[in-house]
Amino acid sequence: MTVPKKQRTAIVIAIDGPSASGKSTNAKMVARTLHFLHVDTGAMYRTLAWYCLKHQIDVNDAKAVATACRRWKATLQSGEGQVRLVVDGYYPAQEIRTNEVSAAVTHVAAVPKVREWMKQIQRQCAQFGDLVMEGRDIGTNVFPETDFKYYLDARIEERARRRAAEGIQENLEVRDRRDSQRATSPLMIALGAKVINNSEMTAEQTSRMIIEDIQARLKAAE
Ligand code: CDP
Ligand code: CDP
Repeated sequence: MTVPKKQRTAIVIAIDGPSASGKSTNAKMVARTLHFLHVDTGAMYRTLAWYCLKHQIDVNDAKAVATACRRWKATLQSGEGQVRLVVDGYYPAQEIRTNEVSAAVTHVAAVPKVREWMKQIQRQCAQFGDLVMEGRDIGTNVFPETDFKYYLDARIEERARRRAAEGIQENLEVRDRRDSQRATSPLMIALGAKVINNSEMTAEQTSRMIIEDIQARLKAAE
């Protein structure tokens, strides 16, 4: 009789940082190289903001937002190298990138009950396999136990330039300030996180730095 191999716990790479610090770009590159699943937790908060706007729920009404979050039919779906949150089976890829959603998202993200719900569902992503998860509180709050924490940053002028180059005009400072100053799991550098200021780096250089660091540490742990 063959004894089934004991399943090891999934490895989670946490990538946090402010807007346009390169989280999505680099998380995708790292996930592709290591054959890990990519999880964009910002997209989950954006999806809730979109859902509230669509159902005329006031995003400044914390109680109403918490109720919506408790009741919506949102589930995880894995495919094409990602784990995503879908609502009624639908992933609103385009809809969550509007300026209206960007302006609303920090309000829903500041609601403690929403953050509790998100943490629970984000932790469930590990059932699908090894993860590269990007957000604001992954290393501090969602997977504080992981040994792989990265905090990306870049000068505000550089981050604004990156967004403008993508055709997006947004006051990043306002959203960053709200994310850093909220009471529940604000954006901050996790204990033990490797801080990478990539103002003068290309995305390829940043990803290589992260990948080499992970590979060296995985090798050392063998
Ligand atoms: O547009 P950008 O890539 O900078 O942001 P995002 O990663 O899509 O996240 C959108 C918003 O979701 C953030 O500004 C935060 O308010 C919220 N968020 C959060 O509170 N915690 C996370 N782990 C991820 C995002
Ligand atoms: O997810 P987050 O908001 O942190 O950033 P992003 O959506 O990945 O956007 C970052 C932008 O900066 C993209 O256009 C990248 O090509 C570019 N970039 C980068 O990600 N990393 C660098 N070291 C330099 C530029």
